[in-house]
Amino acid sequence: MFKTLRLQLRFLLPLAITLVAAAYLAVPLLDQVTLRWFARDLNSRGQLVAGTLSDNAADAISSGRYERLRATMERVAQDERLFAMGLCSPDRRWLVRTSGFPRELSCQQAETVAAQPEHRLDLAGGPVHLGVHPVIGTPVQPLVAQTPSSAASSAAQASSLFVGPLIEPRAAPSDAQPVQLGELVLVHDLSFMERRSQDTRRYLIVFLAVLGFVIAVITMVVAQLSWRGWVNGVRAILRGEGLLTPMVPAPELAPFAEEMQQRLRDLEDEYRRLQGPESEWTAERLRALLHSQLSGDQVIVVSNREPYIHEHGENGVVVRRPASGLVTAVEPVMRACSGTWIAHGSGSADREVVDAQDRVAVPPGHDDYYLRRIWLSAEEERGYYFGFANEGLWPLCHVAHVRPIFRENDWETYKAVNQRFADAVVAEARSEDPVVLVQDYHFALLPAMVREKLPQATILTFWHIPWPNPESFGICPWRKELLQGLLGSTILGFHTRFHCRNFMETVDRYLEARIEQEHSTISFQDKETLVEAYPISIEWPAPATVAGWGPVVDCRQRVFARLGLAEDTCLAVGVDRFDYTKGILERLNAVERLLEKHPEWVGRFVFVQVAAPTRSSLEEYRSFQDRIERMSQRINERFGRPGYQPVHLLAQHHEPEQVNELFRAANICVVTSLHDGMNLVSKEFVAARDDEQGVLLLSRFAGAARELTEALIVNPYHVEETADALYQAATMPSAEQRERMASLRSTVHEFNVYRWAGHMLSDAARWRLRARVEARVRRLQQSTDGIKPHSKAAHTTRDAP
Ligand code: F6P
Repeated sequence: MFKTLRLQLRFLLPLAITLVAAAYLAVPLLDQVTLRWFARDLNSRGQLVAGTLSDNAADAISSGRYERLRATMERVAQDERLFAMGLCSPDRRWLVRTSGFPRELSCQQAETVAAQPEHRLDLAGGPVHLGVHPVIGTPVQPLVAQTPSSAASSAAQASSLFVGPLIEPRAAPSDAQPVQLGELVLVHDLSFMERRSQDTRRYLIVFLAVLGFVIAVITMVVAQLSWRGWVNGVRAILRGEGLLTPMVPAPELAPFAEEMQQRLRDLEDEYRRLQGPESEWTAERLRALLHSQLSGDQVIVVSNREPYIHEHGENGVVVRRPASGLVTAVEPVMRACSGTWIAHGSGSADREVVDAQDRVAVPPGHDDYYLRRIWLSAEEERGYYFGFANEGLWPLCHVAHVRPIFRENDWETYKAVNQRFADAVVAEARSEDPVVLVQDYHFALLPAMVREKLPQATILTFWHIPWPNPESFGICPWRKELLQGLLGSTILGFHTRFHCRNFMETVDRYLEARIEQEHSTISFQDKETLVEAYPISIEWPAPATVAGWGPVVDCRQRVFARLGLAEDTCLAVGVDRFDYTKGILERLNAVERLLEKHPEWVGRFVFVQVAAPTRSSLEEYRSFQDRIERMSQRINERFGRPGYQPVHLLAQHHEPEQVNELFRAANICVVTSLHDGMNLVSKEFVAARDDEQGVLLLSRFAGAARELTEALIVNPYHVEETADALYQAATMPSAEQRERMASLRSTVHEFNVYRWAGHMLSDAARWRLRARVEARVRRLQQSTDGIKPHSKAAHTTRDAP
């Protein structure tokens, strides 16, 4: 506001100075002009008067009798502006003067003044205008020249104004020519002109003042309006809304509003389609995107599993990295973006290392971001994590032929824990619109809970596991609540388009929502959610990291020595959580079948399964792990011999470095998931093989199979096919391995985890921008409609932050 005033003053001050200067110059000029006008006016009036009196004057001069002339002149001089009159003789003596005639004025002087352009003379009584007009007539012979004594007595009679000689008239000769007999001197009063000039000056000054005032007011109003407009415009641009802000609602724009919305969507779709091959995504690029497109907004991650677990070890507290695809993917993103990661504090020493707000800076020694731990009671963990999440949703979403179990208590606990995490998100938020990254099936209700408290937050939910078809999902008693919870998200991501379609069909089946397949959006209760596929990935190892790994031969040597393997062994490895969805049983069947079909490999083929224990308190997992152990034992008994054990089951946690060493030592990596959202183990194996050797055997039911097409793709349920693929891998020439691995590596390198996060975040940024533009267009539309938004408009409402 003050800025506006200052700006306006900067304009108004010169304006005022200009007006004063104009008045200063204009007033004398105006005076001169009006004076000339009046002089001209007086001259013509004087001529008129002189013309009228000319004959009388000529007669009076001719006759030498001035009484009648004087009387006439006195009458004429009663005019308001004609101050006095006089008659001069040719030899410049006064013959007659009216009573008010200025005594000091001589005929000579009158003539001199009248010769000037202004005809003005300043007398003691004020300024006068002098007009001198010749009196023309025929001269006559004076009859009798009176004596001075008689003249003096007559003069005394006739007042001192009668100044001419007394002449007795005589008839004029018939051939006499008209000559100038005298001059009529008219004295006009100029004081009225002075008064008029003053009036004019006053009017002019008032006029200029009023004009200045009007200009000032108009300037202020215009400046105010346009300043506001600019400020709004600039603000809008800063908010990324473009220049639509100053748009004035106009009825004729209403028909275009809808079309504009449509066009915006089309443009966005086109943009997304154009996102083909692109330059490499790195941590720096992701950081830059966060700052440029999301104005450095705070990032909050919510997941059940924490990225670093503090546990009591033999030599004190140790930090462990969990076996989790989620952690593998999201942790590098958090290192790049900073912010806060909220997760369940499950380590035995977790409480000992946090501060008063239950936070600890991680990664240890780097402190890139905060890990905020939420403590769950055993009962909460049982109901929310083991119960509803892992006995209900996990088998529900994975086609692994394990019956989901839904318990009312588990559901209640799931709801309560979701609320606790949602409250933590709200408590951690430093602004009204943080970017919240919600991870996985543990928090299906959390997006709507956060949305309720932080309506402007950008909530990106990623569902790391598959989404089943509507029939399968329909068996969940709380299907509607789960769907509604997820639709609190701004963006809901799955690994594949197939899972996106399943989700949209499920919503279509169970909720009253508007689905736009073309744009992949769902509008529910005035909120719109973008449902999109974002194939998750891993951080592509930096050259310095790779250099630290050591040569492949060294890794192979170390692993072989540890496991007691013969030098010519073909080593196949599987690295998984000990989970029934991973197809561990199926791959053991395939190994057994390989040895059956190709006995020449007995003694030379070894399969190592790293199985990180998980959810062991659940009966389904316990019995599964027992089965695997029994099966491994059986194969070893069947094909093993002294110094040769075909199956090595390593059912313990391995740190990422150990897993990497195993990958580099192996000839084959076996990924036979029965159903998997993505499976990052397959990508980690590829990233580990900078020697471009090794074969990836990959289940067609893992999301990764859509990207890693140069792998040997198998149906793990088909034992024969999988066994043949194992054989093909074991016998694959080095050149073919190189060709396949090089191609796989370039895919994983390009489609790394920064690209995954980058695409989600840039979609979120565009979504925020589009939401703002659409909100503006909608307001425009409503103001032109003059009605409340109809149902269609309501459907297209985004959570405009
Ligand atoms: O593999 C799918 C997944 O949801 C991962 O995203 C996640 O890391 C894991 O399962 C969950 O494992 P846990 O229950 O041990 O955290």
